[in-house]
Amino acid sequence: MWSNLLFALVAVASVGARQITKHEVRARQLEAAKRWQTSNAGPVKRSSGVQNITFTNPKASEFYVNGSSLPLVDFDVGPSWAGLLPISNSPNETRQLFFWFFPPGPEGSLDDIIFWTNGGPGCSSLEGLLQENGPLSWAWGQAKPTVNEHSWTNLSSVLWVEQPVGTGFSQGTPNIQNEDDLAAQLVGFMQQFLEVFSELQGKKLYLTGESYAGTYIPYIANYIYENPTLLDLSLQGIWVSDPSLSWDVVQEEIPAVDFVNKYTGLFSFNQTFLATLEKQAASCNYTGYMEKYVTYPPQGLLPLPGTSIEFDQGCDVWDEIFNNALIINPAFDIYRIWDTYPILWDVLGFPGSFPQQQSPIYFNRKEVKEAIHAPVDTEWTECSNVNVFPNGDGSLPPAFTVLPNVIEKSQRSVIVHGLADFILIAEGTRIVIQNMTWNGMQGFQAPIANDSFIVDGVGAYGNMHSERGLTYFEVALSGHMVPQFAPVAAFQIMQYLMGFRDTP
Ligand SMILES: *[C@@H]1O[C@H](CO)[C@@H](O)[C@H](O)[C@H]1NC(C)=O
Ligand SMILES: *[C@@H]1O[C@H](CO)[C@@H](O)[C@H](O)[C@H]1NC(C)=O
Ligand SMILES: *[C@@H]1O[C@H](CO)[C@@H](O)[C@H](O)[C@H]1NC(C)=O
Ligand SMILES: *[C@@H]1O[C@H](CO)[C@@H](O)[C@H](O)[C@H]1NC(C)=O
Ligand SMILES: *[C@@H]1O[C@H](CO)[C@@H](O)[C@H](O)[C@H]1NC(C)=O
Ligand SMILES: *[C@@H]1O[C@H](CO)[C@@H](O)[C@H](O)[C@H]1NC(C)=O
Ligand SMILES: *[C@@H]1O[C@H](CO)[C@@H](O)[C@H](O)[C@H]1NC(C)=O
Ligand SMILES: *[C@@H]1O[C@H](CO)[C@@H](O)[C@H](O)[C@H]1NC(C)=O
Repeated sequence: MWSNLLFALVAVASVGARQITKHEVRARQLEAAKRWQTSNAGPVKRSSGVQNITFTNPKASEFYVNGSSLPLVDFDVGPSWAGLLPISNSPNETRQLFFWFFPPGPEGSLDDIIFWTNGGPGCSSLEGLLQENGPLSWAWGQAKPTVNEHSWTNLSSVLWVEQPVGTGFSQGTPNIQNEDDLAAQLVGFMQQFLEVFSELQGKKLYLTGESYAGTYIPYIANYIYENPTLLDLSLQGIWVSDPSLSWDVVQEEIPAVDFVNKYTGLFSFNQTFLATLEKQAASCNYTGYMEKYVTYPPQGLLPLPGTSIEFDQGCDVWDEIFNNALIINPAFDIYRIWDTYPILWDVLGFPGSFPQQQSPIYFNRKEVKEAIHAPVDTEWTECSNVNVFPNGDGSLPPAFTVLPNVIEKSQRSVIVHGLADFILIAEGTRIVIQNMTWNGMQGFQAPIANDSFIVDGVGAYGNMHSERGLTYFEVALSGHMVPQFAPVAAFQIMQYLMGFRDTP
């Protein structure tokens, strides 16, 4: 009996052992990639006869970038404009922000403009441009740049800005104390930008950003809504992805052990350590928090797990998980949890923990700096070595202050979270949303249904929920940088934010 069974298993195994040639694997992947590249890449808006953008101010031509001669890029990225502009019109102004502006592609709208910033604080938006949502993609592990079929320039104009002062190529000494200072300096820059590129005045504006820009963006939007005469642009809404919106204990600690349990195989912790984590989570009041407090609708304000806005002593489970994950996987990546050894090479040197740069950091090449009118003497790092808030950021997290007002004043607002991000965890964002009151009610009243985010041409791609002007997306198979890891999903979310489609 046993030997028969064993014989049968062996027989099945040998008969069924799949022989698949490299050629066939590649053919199937190529076909899938092609489907992917063309999914949701169609016309975005029925705009009648898109006109090419031209700028009449002669100063604009000083910023023109020749899209067919970007170093190491073997295709034409089209016309664009880049360089430094000051944050005020004061003749002695020493502070300048670096920008790179792309006009819309052939199908994009000329009525709109998207502003993008990365977070940090102090991380460069050129990372977003080169690796997330720009017209070319040179992301981790890519040997050379490729065309990004889901560039946000297919939707409209996009402006990437390195801000605040102290970030990337931007010039001057940081002196901001809080987010309102940051917003005032950025708006000052935007005024100078709209002087030079005056054809952009009056356009519909969308403010977008990721990570710590989850704090920047609501404050910038609030500043613009509260000072409506400062900018000749019509703010419509905001995108924040994998955003810092509240305390770290909420967005990193409470959901951390649940996250490990959800992705047990990827962490592959041993049983002893898992048991230690469980014990710790229980004594820190993290265990069961989601089930008890994150209800739809919420039953009152949600409590902090410990005695303050910080984690209590012995309750930094996030840090322990990170440290211990590195033991069997030195390439463990808090931004996308399934990376394994060896660490992927990155032309921007990020996460940058390895001295393995086969090429100089792209934006540190002299010829690149010259091509985009960047200051040749400035050493570029993806995230700044100086503190862009010299005395810290004095503002409270936006969920407690400006975010509700921004949602109320916007046509649409989206909060997006990659489900494979560990530096900020989607469940933590759910806590933030359920504890926030906007448009007269606290949190979502109805639950976030599983598989409710449907991407055209792909299918269920995570979860989505929309109430009272706020739409929340959880994106499957995406780490921290959603436009990088899930470009098709990110593109559809932007179409929704911009009103180019009616449903999320
Ligand atoms: C826009 O510019 C492109 C490339 O220079 C040209 O081929 C196209 O005809 C122009 N379109 C319009 C509407 O002027
Ligand atoms: C742009 O660069 C290409 C390739 O180097 C060159 O042939 C072309 O003349 C340049 N165009 C302008 C307007 O400088
Ligand atoms: C520029 O000069 C004016 C007047 O002298 C002064 O009030 C202002 O603080 C200066 N600004 C900067 C950025 O140095
Ligand atoms: C989107 O942008 C990319 C890069 O500019 C371009 O190759 C592609 O054709 C565009 N797709 C559409 C539908 O406009
Ligand atoms: C929920 O909001 C209240 C009121 O702003 C605040 O006191 C509390 O700490 C918040 N709870 C969490 C988990 O952030
Ligand atoms: C957990 O919650 C209980 C009851 O609210 C509280 O007394 C205790 O101090 C909390 N534990 C920690 C570690 O903060
Ligand atoms: C289990 O994991 C913990 C934490 O990483 C480690 O300290 C311990 O040595 C591991 N046990 C074994 C048997 O590897
Ligand atoms: C939704 O999916 C999660 C796992 O991702 C599961 O735990 C939960 O039970 C599901 N909810 C429903 C209503 O099926």
